[in-house]
Amino acid sequence: MSVADLPKVELHLHLEGAAPPGFIRGLAAEKDMDISHIFDPDGGYAYRDFRHFLEVYEAATATLQSPEDYHRLTLAVLEQSAANGVVYCETFLSPDFCGNREVSAWKDYLQAIREAAEIAEARDGIVLRGIVTCIRHFGPEKAKQTARCAAETAGDWLVGFGMAGDESRGKPGDFCYAFDVAREAGLGITVHAGEWGGAASVRDAMVALRPSRIGHGVQAIEEPAVVARLADEQVVLEVCPGSNVFLGVFPSWQDHPIQRLRDAGVPVTVSTDDPPFFHTALAAEYDRLAETFGWEAKDFRDINLTAARAAFCDEATRARVIETLEAAYA
Ligand code: ADE
Ligand code: ZN
Repeated sequence: MSVADLPKVELHLHLEGAAPPGFIRGLAAEKDMDISHIFDPDGGYAYRDFRHFLEVYEAATATLQSPEDYHRLTLAVLEQSAANGVVYCETFLSPDFCGNREVSAWKDYLQAIREAAEIAEARDGIVLRGIVTCIRHFGPEKAKQTARCAAETAGDWLVGFGMAGDESRGKPGDFCYAFDVAREAGLGITVHAGEWGGAASVRDAMVALRPSRIGHGVQAIEEPAVVARLADEQVVLEVCPGSNVFLGVFPSWQDHPIQRLRDAGVPVTVSTDDPPFFHTALAAEYDRLAETFGWEAKDFRDINLTAARAAFCDEATRARVIETLEAAYA
């Protein structure tokens, strides 16, 4: 079986960040928007560093202006994911971009995204679930409104709440209220931390927000006590190695700590984050992991079962995903 055909579970994928650049260029042309400054001469996204990446991301997202645009985006993204062997995916959705945090508009966007997900599931067998994410650099007040949108729509499909954005802005504790609202609504909790903010940021996020999963978390490697705590509490890391290497969090794949974290007993999973921004795809990540760390089918089985167990979906869906994995990796 080729790597692309191996069934995969992806827990950390930003829907807008997965938009193919050609798709965004097409939307911009339809709307007569000039966003040529966000593309390189080859047509890919162009940015200098992480801060600039966030700006380019938001400029690309500005072309997505209606539930119908998100419907088309979801279909385009899931087609790519299915071609990479993804059988179950959780995607980050931001009411900030979908209806400006207004609950009734957000419901329309969500409905359009869910309808596209149903079409993709019938077409390719891929299952999608949503995680509402607030955006750290938009501040705690907006995060509260975002959490209200999440709580209003929590259920079998909208299963989690998280936080992305610029980790250098504000402290996790500033966002307790938003996370409490989400937790009380029954949503699973994940937080971006330890991508840029060091091991201390992972510890702070764990203490203040009590997530069962952390987005990235890889800089925990700087402090053995934080690694030990992740392992003790079995907090699952959504690791995106290609994203980290492309953005310069680590200088090379060889230097990436994913294997050291695994060796220390931290549950790790593998995702792509914003694949076209980092010139990657999930099957390519698996190829690099095999090349760099000698990972074999048993390692991929392991990370995918970890991901399925950490997924925020209902138990019947989880059981079906685990059955698919067990059959393929037997
Ligand atoms: N939003 C989209 N991708 C992100 C990343 N890698 N870190 C923080 N926020 C993001
Ligand atoms: Zn992310």
